[in-house]
Amino acid sequence: MRRGALFAMLLATAGLDAAWGYQPAVNYQLNCMGCHGADGSGEPGRVPSVRRSLVLLSTLPEGREYIIRVPGVAQSPLSDEETAALLDWMARNLSDIPPRPGFIDYSASEVGRSRRHPLARVRSERERLLKSLSRARGPSPVAEGKAVVVAPDEVVTAR
Ligand code: HEC
Repeated sequence: MRRGALFAMLLATAGLDAAWGYQPAVNYQLNCMGCHGADGSGEPGRVPSVRRSLVLLSTLPEGREYIIRVPGVAQSPLSDEETAALLDWMARNLSDIPPRPGFIDYSASEVGRSRRHPLARVRSERERLLKSLSRARGPSPVAEGKAVVVAPDEVVTAR
């Protein structure tokens, strides 16, 4: 085996990437899992599930800003690059709604821009965005013919 390949394999085994940062799955475990749970389903009444909201909110420019500006994301010790990679990883691995082909990956510059303005009123902003998502129902942005429904407990569910 070439030395470079062996090195890359050792890094991957340790959960590190070539820039000596952790891979998204490890960053999630270290920085987010304590509140959001191993599978992103959160904790009823305290931490919302991201299993639908992340991908759905990512379809709206304002939703993307909201996601980057929630305290857990904006104020994490992760770099902008790591945060972008983490959100993309969550969308693909902790979601009941896999990102469709048009899904726009988060970029480091997008994260850097929005995280400088942490949200003051998180709950009301979330509610407002979820309402506008459910209004935009029609041919649903979610999955074939499935409606987006915003339940009173602020959790987005697809039926
Ligand atoms: C201390 C607990 C805590 C930690 C740690 C935390 N979060 Fe959160 N997160 C929350 C809560 C609570 C909300 C709901 C908004 C609010 O009230 O702040 C939330 C909201 C979110 C949302 C928006 C989803 C929605 O449906 O509103 C995303 C995305 C998110 N967090 C990602 C992360 C990521 C990524 C990390 C790790 C880098 C992280 N969070 C760390 C508690 C936490």
